[in-house]
Amino acid sequence: MADKKLRSQAWFGKKGRDGFIYRAWMKNQGIPDDEFGKPVIGICNTWSELTPCNAHFRELAESVKKGVLQAGGFPLEFPVMSLGESLMKPTTMLYRNLASMDVEETIRANPLDAVVLMCGCDKTTPSLIMGAASVDLPTIVISGGAMLTGRYKGKKLATSDLWRIVDKATLGEIEDEEIREMESCFGRSRGHCMVMGTASTMAVMTESLGMSLPTNAAIPAADSRRKVLAQMTGRRIVDMVAEDIKVSDVLTREAFENAIVVNAATGGSSNFVVHLLAIAGRVGVDLDLKDFDKIGSKVPLLTNLQPAGEHYMEDFYYAGGLPVVIKELTHLLKETPTINGKSIIENSANSENYDKNVLADFEKPFQENAGIVVVYGNLCERGGVIKPAAASEELLVHSGKAVVFEDIEDYHARVNTPELEIDETSVMVLKNAGPKGYPGMAEVGNMALPKKLLEKGIKDVVRVSDGRMSGTAYGTTVLHVAPESASGGILAIVENGDEIILDVPNRTLRLNVDDAEIKRRLENWEAPDLGVKRGYTKLYLENVNQADKGADMDFLRGKTVNLKLRESH
Ligand code: FES
Repeated sequence: MADKKLRSQAWFGKKGRDGFIYRAWMKNQGIPDDEFGKPVIGICNTWSELTPCNAHFRELAESVKKGVLQAGGFPLEFPVMSLGESLMKPTTMLYRNLASMDVEETIRANPLDAVVLMCGCDKTTPSLIMGAASVDLPTIVISGGAMLTGRYKGKKLATSDLWRIVDKATLGEIEDEEIREMESCFGRSRGHCMVMGTASTMAVMTESLGMSLPTNAAIPAADSRRKVLAQMTGRRIVDMVAEDIKVSDVLTREAFENAIVVNAATGGSSNFVVHLLAIAGRVGVDLDLKDFDKIGSKVPLLTNLQPAGEHYMEDFYYAGGLPVVIKELTHLLKETPTINGKSIIENSANSENYDKNVLADFEKPFQENAGIVVVYGNLCERGGVIKPAAASEELLVHSGKAVVFEDIEDYHARVNTPELEIDETSVMVLKNAGPKGYPGMAEVGNMALPKKLLEKGIKDVVRVSDGRMSGTAYGTTVLHVAPESASGGILAIVENGDEIILDVPNRTLRLNVDDAEIKRRLENWEAPDLGVKRGYTKLYLENVNQADKGADMDFLRGKTVNLKLRESH
């Protein structure tokens, strides 16, 4: 470290008045003078009691600090905007880019040599990686881990059950009192959602990109080994400063390709697509929506985890965790470097599968062709995504009459009315749920089925929208339709009764209306006025990209280098 010029020395190594100011105010925290020549490790914490999935992060940060101190670093913890999926309105996705700006500017503005990102609930992972990638210092992610599986009256209970509970409540088969009791049995430990929803998908993405230590994806939040990993993360980040391993050294095009393969094999959330595209945009890697289909759609499913399968995140860890899956996929993966200096393949070489009900061998997968498929057609000229692993096979080739909801409020107002004309062949269409239309691209694309279909025992119909779907949900749902309806995409002019044709094997989604009629309707279409005149949402609406570009904001793509560290005193 002796010959390494630390970035933090531009503050703490100064002489005279400036050095006095930089050090003296820090010393009010009881910091000894000899700390100021050590590598400064920022611990970027998304702790918040409004983000229950990350509510244990103050304690976890102490483990990171211990590791940093053991390795001779100087840890400094700082808060950033936290995004709690279960509470924030209209949707955390509206704020993902804002949180990434907070992370980026806080890191860049301060005397940090490296950063540990503390990520958990869905958007806290992509926002932190996006922000850190735009600064490009040595960086490691430590995830918070998933909750233990809930238990209710002797049965397992997890996030994916929520959708079934909602259907039962719609049919009047379950009372409010029972739901309250279930809630207590559901949230019985610290951590994020306990299925392969978006938070776990992001933890898998992080490990498969090489941005965390091996096993990070699956250790439960309540398991003491999560604290051990946090401590090892603290030790490792100090070494990374000396080795000068930056985000851009790890996040190469090959690393993104690996993440797509691993996401497919683990049945990861469709939200993976927008987040990976956004992260790639920050590091300048040329990743395209078509890559997800080309690289991932033929990959088999190797995990038997909810929502696509039966088991839960803690079972994933007990079975051997992500290194087992990576080892099975070795022949499909690139030998990319990770933050510990070894390749992703070296890191998984000694893994063992302890439960073949949970993790499959490559030759005997739980399902063939599990990855995300991208469809194109006049209804989604810039693409739409569908996750066949969460869909009904018999609906993957389907044509039916559109039942259109103009926005989510229209859906809620009419979905359970007797007048709604719908049957099992219908295609439910939701407009104005995209990046601009909602705004923020909400997780409403998996509209719950109308009561009249549930009463007939119908469990799934084709659904099409420009919104997203919760990673814990399932259904034959085409999502992320681009261009979205609020931007004048053809989705905007679909009318009740129009025929929609979905053909997943041939990768098409079409509105069967002739071009002249489409043109006529588009000429009469008016963009919705959301009435947003000020603030962050105005900035967002003016700059947000469509889903096929990751819904990042144009001016945030790439990274800022060589910013002058001007003195302000
Ligand atoms: Fe935080 Fe599901 S609500 S991960």
